[in-house]
Amino acid sequence: MSATDIQQLKDQVHENMQGAVTIVVLGASGDLAGKKTYPAIFSLLRNGLMPENVHITGYARSKLDRNEYVKRITAHLKDASEEQKNKFLEVTDYVSGQYDQDDSWKSLNEHLDKLEEKRGLKEGRRNRVFYMALPPSVFVTVARGLRKFVYTDKGHNRIVVEKPFGKDLESSTELAKDLGELFKEEEIYRIDHYLGKEMVKNILPLRFANMILDPTFCNKTVDNVQITLKEPFGTEGRGGYFDEYNIIRDVMQNHLLQVMSLIAMDKPAGNDPESTRDAKVKLLRKVKPIDIKDTLLGQYVANGDKPGYKDDDTVPNDSVSPTFAALVLYVDNDRWRGVPFIMKAGKALDTAKVDVRLQFRDVEEGLFKQAARNELVLRIQPGEAIYYKLNNKSPGLTYRQIVTDLDLTYKDRYKDMSIPDAYETLILDVMRSDHSNFVRDDELDAAWRIFTPLLHKIDREKIQPKPYPYGSRGPQELDDFVTRYGFKRDTKAPYEWPVQSVGK
Ligand code: NDP
Ligand code: BG6
Repeated sequence: MSATDIQQLKDQVHENMQGAVTIVVLGASGDLAGKKTYPAIFSLLRNGLMPENVHITGYARSKLDRNEYVKRITAHLKDASEEQKNKFLEVTDYVSGQYDQDDSWKSLNEHLDKLEEKRGLKEGRRNRVFYMALPPSVFVTVARGLRKFVYTDKGHNRIVVEKPFGKDLESSTELAKDLGELFKEEEIYRIDHYLGKEMVKNILPLRFANMILDPTFCNKTVDNVQITLKEPFGTEGRGGYFDEYNIIRDVMQNHLLQVMSLIAMDKPAGNDPESTRDAKVKLLRKVKPIDIKDTLLGQYVANGDKPGYKDDDTVPNDSVSPTFAALVLYVDNDRWRGVPFIMKAGKALDTAKVDVRLQFRDVEEGLFKQAARNELVLRIQPGEAIYYKLNNKSPGLTYRQIVTDLDLTYKDRYKDMSIPDAYETLILDVMRSDHSNFVRDDELDAAWRIFTPLLHKIDREKIQPKPYPYGSRGPQELDDFVTRYGFKRDTKAPYEWPVQSVGK
């Protein structure tokens, strides 16, 4: 980032926070806080992207002494010098208390008041950000306690909430209603951390700042779109949570649907955050609820020394919870009518990758009718890259065509590149009061409408998922499934990457 970019961000943070903030991390003793929230805050602080007068108070039920607290919140700080850590530790402390007791919240509030006094914060600058790194079972109880006893009228308040936002349309609506009675929509920042990922943030500029791209994002040129999330590890240790939520609620209704809506939405009417969110909602409302016949569900089984999903003690022996799903979504508008959006996600697969693949239509007639299909791939992780698979004349005397690519691999192209963690970007956005990369309540509603009938059917009818071995590409039915929706994998044309031999 250039010095000008950094200064611009600093100015935005300063302007929006009047130079001061107290961040209260609820659930500070937990996994998410230790792995994501604290490292992100630390990194922003180290880069000078927090307000000058900042304090972070951790809050949770565990009775942690200072040493234990410090150990937990510094365990995941990467490349941090002792000096940087000490600077961070100077501005953080921990309060232990209950989530459902008025006295606990009153004590927390007194603690924060005293700190603000000591830090010399005048009225108007006593801003508070409540970061909920908590399980969904206590969301509303905590939000109530905060609203009643810790909400400030001497500055502004923000509440950051983490998924899951309900389990279906009904529970999500109830959660939205409960939260909406306590905090104003502009005070709520619902995190979907995929919206903080570099390549996901790049989708809108890539589409709408390039005249050669967006006009091709439509049913006249695109045959099918695949959005894939593969993880090479199982649900070990999270079986209890996962069994209730399954892969569809865990990563598809939220992360992958966010990616899909950015790929498919029309150009936002303006460049303010609400216009982007309006465009997403407009698109989501045109997506039809998923039909069970357009799905393939899987569950991993043991393979060698790798355990099966049901080998986890916290998973019931008769669980039918899918750990893999391929689902097809259709958008009922002029731009996309007829194009299948194939979403695939799974645990315990052969590799780690998240990408979007737009596969273009065949050349229909003439000399190049046999050509392989073009593909535009946006690799979200690991290793951000955009590549366009094209047909090209093989260099030399031959007229043979080969499949090759225009390749923008970030690490090769961008010097001194440093890509922040998604949480760092999103917490910075909270400081800048920018809601673009957060989920709005009506967006959630539209998202759940697409998935709820399918989820209810799976739960009610206990639909048996197909088994697949740990470490495989998924159920053996997968290749036929994607073929059925138009995906063509070209196996004739030799495609090699990164260096191609033209002698073949
Ligand atoms: P991929 O290997 O990513 O796969 C392309 C498609 O074919 C995916 O839909 C994939 O399904 C499917 N597929 C993969 N293996 C099989 C199989 N055995 N049977 C049936 N279907 C299969 O192909 P690409 O052509 O995009 O890339 C080839 C390689 O080159 C990749 O390793 C890629 O990372 C690399 N590459 C890297 C670039 C970069 O880093 N800049 C640029 C270009 C290429 P599924 O999604 O289920 O796996
Ligand atoms: C979380 C899911 O929301 O996203 C996890 O609960 C999943 O199951 C994770 O592993 C994936 O996020 P990332 O950033 O590691 O791709």
